[in-house]
Amino acid sequence: MSQLFIKSPKHCGKQGVNIEKLYKKVFLAFSALFTTILSIILLVWLILRPTKPQFSLKEADIYQLNLSNSHLLNSSIQLTLLSKNPNQKIGIYYDELQVYAAYKGQQITVYTSLPPFYQGHEDSNLLSASLGGTGLPVAPSFGYQVVRDQTVGRLVLNLKVNGRLRWKVGTWVSGRYRLNVNCVAVVAFGPAIPTGPLSSEQGTQCSTSV
Ligand SMILES: *[C@@H]1O[C@H](CO)[C@@H](O)[C@H](O)[C@H]1NC(C)=O
Ligand SMILES: *[C@@H]1O[C@H](CO)[C@@H](O)[C@H](O)[C@H]1NC(C)=O
Repeated sequence: MSQLFIKSPKHCGKQGVNIEKLYKKVFLAFSALFTTILSIILLVWLILRPTKPQFSLKEADIYQLNLSNSHLLNSSIQLTLLSKNPNQKIGIYYDELQVYAAYKGQQITVYTSLPPFYQGHEDSNLLSASLGGTGLPVAPSFGYQVVRDQTVGRLVLNLKVNGRLRWKVGTWVSGRYRLNVNCVAVVAFGPAIPTGPLSSEQGTQCSTSV
């Protein structure tokens, strides 16, 4: 543009009008480009639209669930989850995963952290965690409820995973999204004193929210 000025200084007035028009054109071109890029990003996102990761319960074994003073709990639970990325073109980074067990809305183990990991397209991973707690305070009704479950013959636990995930499309990585997973473990629990750990039924699908 500066070259135009140098070449024809005589037509300054006329040039001013042209430059104004030029600015308008450049502005229009840029906004058109911007809109196009936005539409392409939106389109790619809609086509690739990520599906939530899937989790299912492989196994949950209760090794210990003992009360003292009727409100302090010692617990020990071994957990294995199967994690699957159902997306064909999107990878998933899992960060800050924390696992714990709950019984009738009460947390019965402390949080156990899982190491962060990356899950490629349609990959699966087994996640194992040892959950437990020593002297965890629980509601006074806990002991009564466990005994009642024992007479019914089954105990229902919630195994929960909280964390964050990032989507990876090509070389682009998204921001962090909150991940919450809830698995329901139904454990057969008869009146006879068990010789081994109490084990859950296998293959239960967990609910996931992102
Ligand atoms: C916990 O309770 C089980 C029975 O449910 C018993 O066999 C075991 O000895 C107890 N463990 C402790 C550490 O008290
Ligand atoms: C819980 O664990 C603590 C520490 O290991 C122990 O002193 C206590 O007796 C245990 N209580 C039960 C009910 O097993």
